[in-house]
Amino acid sequence: MKSLNFYIKDSIEKHYSLGAYNFVNMEMLKGICKGCQKSKSPCITAVSEGAFDYMGENFVIAIFESAKKEYNDIPFFLHLDHGKSFEMCKKAVDLGFSSVMIDGSSLPFEENVALTKKVVDYAHKKNVLVEAELGVLAGIEDYVHADKNVFTDPQKAKEFVERTNCDSLAVAIGTSHGAYKFKGESTLRFDILSEIEKELPHFPLVLHGASSVPQNYVKLINEFGGKVEGAKGVDEKLLFTASTKHNIFKINTDTDLRLVYTATIRKYLTENPSNIDLRKFNLKAIDEIANYVSNKNINVFNNANKI
Ligand code: G3H
Ligand code: 13P
Ligand code: ZN
Repeated sequence: MKSLNFYIKDSIEKHYSLGAYNFVNMEMLKGICKGCQKSKSPCITAVSEGAFDYMGENFVIAIFESAKKEYNDIPFFLHLDHGKSFEMCKKAVDLGFSSVMIDGSSLPFEENVALTKKVVDYAHKKNVLVEAELGVLAGIEDYVHADKNVFTDPQKAKEFVERTNCDSLAVAIGTSHGAYKFKGESTLRFDILSEIEKELPHFPLVLHGASSVPQNYVKLINEFGGKVEGAKGVDEKLLFTASTKHNIFKINTDTDLRLVYTATIRKYLTENPSNIDLRKFNLKAIDEIANYVSNKNINVFNNANKI
């Protein structure tokens, strides 16, 4: 099986990106793996600190290792998403994750450099790759909160990568976390991205907050008793451009899977009010996630048949 490093280089050379899909339970991970099996795609399966706390480290490793055995025909890699401290990243490295993200983006530049470098020095000794972040994405996650975007400064990005020796860099070019990304039309600052790429030729870049917030699932949620009105994501055409015309090798997608999962279960339970068998709706959710992931891989990330 090829390494994560192989796919990072391959994706930049061959103009595709890897989906980095977050999971918080066995069902999500199964859906992601099944989807990647369908499209024959490599992918990154990501665990946030919140998801890590929710599942507990023994379950994270047990679920992931089981999936590796079950879906042994596709390459997928365990990644720590938005690690906030050296200790959390060290824990993930020691547990055998393939890569960790140290998110020092809310810190002053020098502190972000120092923290990232400390993680890199530790992780590289154990052959674990490190993603860092420069610039700030708006939005709310369990452990990260920012009110507005601060776009990545291209010159600072070059200095940051040189000083930290990180393996990839998450950039802020207009995306944000969660289901409410844009009020009007969705736009990304590809001009800033191109400037970053001039400063850091062929360097692997990452797009966070990249869910496209599929309107059919938003509609289903609202129709079946939910309330996510006005939710809006990144236009998939923009994500396709980022995957195929830029050095974005990893596109983080969490919110979309949450929407797909929730919509499927809401619909099933409303239409089958007497059902109390959890397997019935969870199986449907796994299949819907698998369809969503394979379509995304094929049509947006351009990574079908790249295993
Ligand atoms: O950007 C990160 C993910 O969406 C993680 O969200 O912290 O709520 O698990 P979470
Ligand atoms: P979304 O909220 O757009 O899915 O972003 C997920 C993400 O960036 C995970 O790190
Ligand atoms: Zn993120």
